[in-house]
Amino acid sequence: METSANELVRLNQQLLESIAAGDWETYAALCDPTISAFEPEARGQLVEGMDFHKFYFDLGVGKGPVNTTMCSPHVRLMGDVAVVSYVRLVQRLDPAGAPVTARGEETRVWQRKNGTWRHVHFHRSAGA
Ligand code: GLY
Repeated sequence: METSANELVRLNQQLLESIAAGDWETYAALCDPTISAFEPEARGQLVEGMDFHKFYFDLGVGKGPVNTTMCSPHVRLMGDVAVVSYVRLVQRLDPAGAPVTARGEETRVWQRKNGTWRHVHFHRSAGA
């Protein structure tokens, strides 16, 4: 089955929007249960599985609008594996109601299993 880079960008955007919306059901459906990750919250450790990520979904999301942008996404397709790299911008309102933008570099790895793409690894930097 052929996959286009656009499909991976669309799936990745769906994943990021599920994070912004606190939509655990969608996030969990897109991820492999054995996902591994480096992210700032993990304090330099490689975390495996979904529990670490679910903790943040269970806290809920703040009120107000959120807009997530993948800047210049680069997709490397290698058969049933794809690597998506980009800078992620997240626009939201601070507690005083002023718009703020967070940024971070991300690399997300997807694997196609039985015809379905699943998110299997990511590395997210601390925003500069
Ligand atoms: N912290 C969850 C994610 O970035 O996928």
